[in-house]
Amino acid sequence: MTRLVQRANEYRRRHGLLALPRELCLRTYRRLFQNWHYVFACDEPPALCTPPTGLRLLHCREPHGLPDAYREQIVRELSVAMNATLNHDFANRAELFVALDGDQVAAIQWVRFGCHVRSWFVPLRADDFVLFGGTTLPRFRRRGIMTWMIVDQTRYALQRGGRGHSDVKVWNTPAIRAVECAGYRRIACLRPLRAEP
Ligand SMILES: CC(C)(COP(=O)(O)OP(=O)(O)OC[C@H]1O[C@@H](n2cnc3c(N)ncnc32)[C@H](O)[C@@H]1OP(=O)(O)O)[C@@H](O)C(=O)NCCC(=O)NCCS
Repeated sequence: MTRLVQRANEYRRRHGLLALPRELCLRTYRRLFQNWHYVFACDEPPALCTPPTGLRLLHCREPHGLPDAYREQIVRELSVAMNATLNHDFANRAELFVALDGDQVAAIQWVRFGCHVRSWFVPLRADDFVLFGGTTLPRFRRRGIMTWMIVDQTRYALQRGGRGHSDVKVWNTPAIRAVECAGYRRIACLRPLRAEP
C-alpha cells in the first residue's frame, strides 16, 4: 500500500495532479482486462546498422560496473523504484546494457540467460536468453534506439548458441513494434506466471 502511494505521488509530481486519475483508471483497466503478454522468439536478427545519433554502449555484469552518475540519472528520469529494480536484477544474474549519448543515459536493457531463469512463459534451455526491461528515457524516444538495442543485444547473446526471447504486454504498441522490427516473431499470447523472468 505504501509503495502504491509512493508511486502515485511520484506520478503526480512528474505529470501533474490532473493526469493522475486517468492513469489510475488506465492501469486498473489494463490489470483487470489486458493482463496478457505476447511472447516473442528470435533465431536470426537483422544485420546491425550504425547506432542512432552516435550512441555508445556500456555493458555491466555487476552493480559496480554501472557508474553512480548513470544510476542517479536512471532513477531521476524513470522512477525511484529503479534503484531497487537495478539491485534486484543484478542480484539475479542479469546483464545490463546502457546506451549513452555523450554523458547522458539514453536507454537501458537487460539480458538474462536461461540458466539463471527459474520459470518463464515458455521453457528455456541454459543458453536461451530473455531480453527484458528495455526502456528508452522519454526525451530519447522514437529515434530507433530501442530497435537498435534489441538487435545488438540479441546478436551478443546468440553467440552462446541459444534462442532469443522477449515478452511485451498486449497494449504496449511501441514495445511490440520495436521487438518485431528487431526480427522477433510472436509465438504465444499468455498470462504471466511471475512479473519478471
Ligand atoms: C517501448 C520503448 C522502449 C520504445 O523505445 P524507442 O527507443 O522509442 O523505440 P524505437 O524508436 O526503436 O521505435 C520502435 C517502434 O515503435 C514505434 N513507436 C515508438 N513510440 C511509439 C508510440 N508512442 N506510439 C506508437 N508507435 C511508437 C516506432 O515508430 C517504431 O516503429 P517503426 O520502426 O515501425 O516506425 C519506449 O517507448 C519505452 O521506454 N517505453 C516505456 C517502457 C516500456 O514500455 N518498455 C517495454 C518493456 S517490454
